[in-house]
Amino acid sequence: MAESPLRLTRKSEYAGPVLPPSRPDRNIALELIRVTEAAAIAAARWAGRGDKYAADGAAVDAMRFVLGAVAMDGVVVIGEGEKDKAPMLYNGEQIGDGRPPQVDVAVDPIDGTTLTAAGRNGAISVIALSERGTMFNPGPCFYMKKIAVGPRGRGSVDVNASATDNLTELSKRLKKPVQELGVVILDRPRHDDLVAEVREAGARVLSITDGDVAGAIATGWPNSGADVLLGIGGTPEGVIAAAALKGLGGEIQGVLHAQSDEVRKEAEALGYDFKRVLMTDDLVASDNCFFSATAITDGDFLRGVRFYDFGATTQSLVVRSRSGTVRTIETFHRHDKLQEFTTAGF
Ligand code: FBP
Repeated sequence: MAESPLRLTRKSEYAGPVLPPSRPDRNIALELIRVTEAAAIAAARWAGRGDKYAADGAAVDAMRFVLGAVAMDGVVVIGEGEKDKAPMLYNGEQIGDGRPPQVDVAVDPIDGTTLTAAGRNGAISVIALSERGTMFNPGPCFYMKKIAVGPRGRGSVDVNASATDNLTELSKRLKKPVQELGVVILDRPRHDDLVAEVREAGARVLSITDGDVAGAIATGWPNSGADVLLGIGGTPEGVIAAAALKGLGGEIQGVLHAQSDEVRKEAEALGYDFKRVLMTDDLVASDNCFFSATAITDGDFLRGVRFYDFGATTQSLVVRSRSGTVRTIETFHRHDKLQEFTTAGF
């Protein structure tokens, strides 16, 4: 696994307030890891089989099954879509066992359905939680222009500035030449000019075919090689990445992007503003949010699911923004033992 993103401060350097000892409160992300593990294992059974719908369906089923057992009163703000099209994990669905806390929930059982179907690297299963009413609802706005950076780059970029200017500022902040910056960009025709500009500026394009949640997280992960993510991707994915980057100490900014006049009109009628810059705190307003991701296929910071005779292993990233705690967790799943007491089919 990659090296830890946390650099511990020596005790003698610590100048903050000394709080009276109190018991640690609940870190619900430690329960959410079971949700993304289940979805990732279910999806991985379909990896490389060429059927992204089957993979997604399996991941949704597994995620929904385990989510029902989490003690929370959750409402899905970002899910699989509208209720008539998505029978489970639809936007507005109540999930959890109904007990407090009241939370907004964003799920993406597979970010990278095409990657999974093709057996390519970079697919993850993700979930993010924040206090009720604090998560940006993308509504009909499917796309967003984004810029994401890790902790060291935070505050040096502006989604409305040119790629060239952003790379110049980031290079100063990171104290490395533009030529050494790694720029994650989704491989899409709409990014042809952006790619040309980044190369003209002298930076290196790290092209991904899908999965810009992992791409955004990579900017906040030491030694991933990614310094910044640029370009237009999914708005839901932007909100989920915001929850992760909050905990990692990074930043994401976005501006909604209308792919058609119809979408723009529909969204504007609902009050969406296509000029407003959405900062990390606009995407997830709470400072108490939780994030869990489990790799389906291998990626920059996590290894994908491996199946063994006894079951499977998974690697997950679990982040809590309030404490800034970042965990990478490797789990050994014993299917032979699980079968003795649960019908969970993962
Ligand atoms: P899916 O897993 O739902 O297919 O999404 C993958 C993804 O690459 C996201 O990571 C990204 O934000 C979005 O699709 C980009 O959309 P598009 O493929 O339409 O350019």
